[in-house]
Amino acid sequence: MLINRKFLLTGIALLIILVTACGQSEQSTSIAKPPTQQEVGEVREVNRQTLQPKIVTVTEETRQTYKWYCSQCHGVKGKGDGINAKFLTVPPRNHTKAAYLETRTNEQLFEAIKFGGLSVGRAPCMPAWGHTLAEDTIHSLVRYIRELCHCEAF
Ligand code: HEC
Repeated sequence: MLINRKFLLTGIALLIILVTACGQSEQSTSIAKPPTQQEVGEVREVNRQTLQPKIVTVTEETRQTYKWYCSQCHGVKGKGDGINAKFLTVPPRNHTKAAYLETRTNEQLFEAIKFGGLSVGRAPCMPAWGHTLAEDTIHSLVRYIRELCHCEAF
C-alpha cells in the first residue's frame, strides 16, 4: 500500500514536470515572430540542464570544430565523402541531404553526436562526442547541420 502511494506520488510529480515543460515550449513558440536578418541562422533550443529555451548560433568556432572532428568522415562540406568514408562499413551520413535530415529531430541529431550512432539506432562507427565536446558546441553543430541541409525537422 505504501509502495503504491509512492508510485502515485512519483507519477504525479512526473506529470507536473511534463506539463510544466510542455507549457514552456508552447510559450516559446507562441511568441515566435518572423525572424530578423540578424536572427537568421539562430534557433531556440532547450538547455537540457535547466530546460530553459535558449538561442543557439553557428559561429566560426562551430565550422572549425566540424572541420577538425567531423570532416574526416562526413567531408569538409558535409557530403559524407571524407577521406575515412571508404573505410567504414556504414557510409557516413550526408549532411546536405534534406530528404533524410527532415525526418530527424534536432534532439535525435544531438543524441547521435553526444552519445554516438548506437544511441539513436544508427551504426556504432558514428562515434560519441560527449566526452570531447561541450553540450553548447553540440547544439551549434546540430544548427550547422541544419545549415548544410538547408532544412528543418518536419
Ligand atoms: C569515424 C567517422 C565519423 C566521424 C569522425 C563522425 N561521424 Fe557522424 N557518422 C558517421 C557514420 C558512419 C554515420 C552513419 C551512421 C548510420 O547511418 O547508421 C554518421 C552519422 C551521423 C549523424 C546522423 C545520425 C542519424 O540520425 O542518422 C550525425 C548528425 C553525425 N554523424 C554528426 C557528426 C558530427 C557532428 C561529427 C563531428 C563532431 C561526426 N558525426 C563525426 C561517422 C562519423
